[in-house]
Amino acid sequence: MTSGRSFYITTPIYYPSDVPHIGHGYTTVAADTLARWHRQAGDDTWMLTGTDEHGQKMMRAAAANGLTPQQWADKLVNEEWQPLLETLDVANDDFIRTTQPRHEASVQRFLQDVYDRGHIYAGEYEALYCVGCEEFKPASEIVDGTGPFEGLKVCAIHSKPLELLQEKNYFFKLSDFQERLLQLYRDRPDFVQPESARNEVVAFVQQGLQDLSISRSAFDWGIPVPWDESHVIYVWFDALLNYATAVGYGADDENFARRWPARHIVGKDILRFHAVIWPAMLMAAGIDVPHNVFAHGWLLVGGEKMSKSKLTGIAPHAITDVFGSDAYRFYFLSAIAFGQDGSFSWEDLSARYQAELANGFGNLASRTIAMIGKYFGGSVPEPGEYTESDLAIQKVVADAAASADEAIDRFRIDEAIRSIWTIVDELNGYITVNEPWALAKDDAQRERLATVLYTCAEALRALAVLLSPVMPQATAKLWAALGTEGSLGALADQPVRDTGRWGQLPAGTVTQALQPLFPRIEQADGS
Ligand code: ME8
Ligand code: MG
Repeated sequence: MTSGRSFYITTPIYYPSDVPHIGHGYTTVAADTLARWHRQAGDDTWMLTGTDEHGQKMMRAAAANGLTPQQWADKLVNEEWQPLLETLDVANDDFIRTTQPRHEASVQRFLQDVYDRGHIYAGEYEALYCVGCEEFKPASEIVDGTGPFEGLKVCAIHSKPLELLQEKNYFFKLSDFQERLLQLYRDRPDFVQPESARNEVVAFVQQGLQDLSISRSAFDWGIPVPWDESHVIYVWFDALLNYATAVGYGADDENFARRWPARHIVGKDILRFHAVIWPAMLMAAGIDVPHNVFAHGWLLVGGEKMSKSKLTGIAPHAITDVFGSDAYRFYFLSAIAFGQDGSFSWEDLSARYQAELANGFGNLASRTIAMIGKYFGGSVPEPGEYTESDLAIQKVVADAAASADEAIDRFRIDEAIRSIWTIVDELNGYITVNEPWALAKDDAQRERLATVLYTCAEALRALAVLLSPVMPQATAKLWAALGTEGSLGALADQPVRDTGRWGQLPAGTVTQALQPLFPRIEQADGS
């Protein structure tokens, strides 16, 4: 079912210095939803996620816990980061760890190649470093500390003091790429998305780029520089390369050619690394730059970025234990405009769960299945002649399917869900107006009743297909209840771009009891 069109999508690789919070989960379910959509459209899809295990942040977290960095990474990856994917029902194709030999060997090959091409030199450096960001900070992100850090320079993102580092390092000639990067942003206006992120990146590069220190010699937790083993490779240089090494760069040319270039989903905190440094690294090595970099916004707590270091993180399972993984996915992907910041609240989650999932979608499905059971013995009836109101539903379904696909192309999952939800809302209105329970009382209306319930069932077929990338579990239950597994095959095999074509559900399909899609929540404040 593969069209041959490659769709390779990535999440950032997270620092397993600490446990995941709902911000990490947000990025991951967004990438997973896009991957599921494309997989279901028949595109040659690959989704990558993983962990970023080198650097000082990891060293310090491990030391604070009395373990080596590798032991700490192993523990957190096995106990927290990989289980997160199950908690959130993520169907990633690969999970890369930067301590894996497949990564380390190819990173060294890449660095040696860029060195041989003359883009790296040795130099001296003294600058302010943020271990939270693992970055020498540009002046625009250095601010004066307050409270306990009064009188010190702190990081604008982490609000923690910066450290003055002075070392002999190897440098990547990033400044050589300023013009080519600006040209890239001009030639491909959607290379960086959304627009606000693009503007920020263009402005940053226009100010002028400094060469980048890409090695450290003060510690040895990292990948050795191939020509000088007294240095390890800067953690970001190492980490960015995961996107290439995971699909065969330097080891499996055929696979690399098949997958590359990638599409990157990142939080806006790491936009510059992905939209400036990463394409410059690839240009230096003569490799195609990514298709695009999409920077989404931050989940905020009290107006600030939710973060591990500020102890404002909410664990994803705190939400899924109460509401389930579908609700987690639906909530974050629909309630926040993808690309903008959003605030999480238990009240908002709870209200949307009740209104949109339980009363909106869930109730629509259960009424329809129940009425087909009651009035037609659980067999999808043959529709009679369509009236205007039936045709209106057909149009809503076709339009929703087309606009959702178009929104997904722009990575606007929130807009796609909004389009799909017009089917839920219109169909609930259609049932209210057509009153199938009243039609059922009149034998003369038997054919009309059949048409109305066929219309509902066929629209539910479309909803199951369109929503399965967002809510794999509820839609699987709905698919089973519609009896479509037997007549149409597996839900995952339904070509999503063909969903809007009316009349795919065969009359005579035998429905099954519907497992509750969105059960009542007794206690919804997370306490
Ligand atoms: O930066 N809101 O890892 P990291 C939304 N290892 N998303 C959030 C978030 C929030 N409050 N907090 C974190 C790193 N995220 C590097 C990446 S990639 C080659 C290396 C998400 O563990 C968001 O995707 O700090 C953000 O970009 C990422 O987690 C940072 O994760
Ligand atoms: Mg971070």
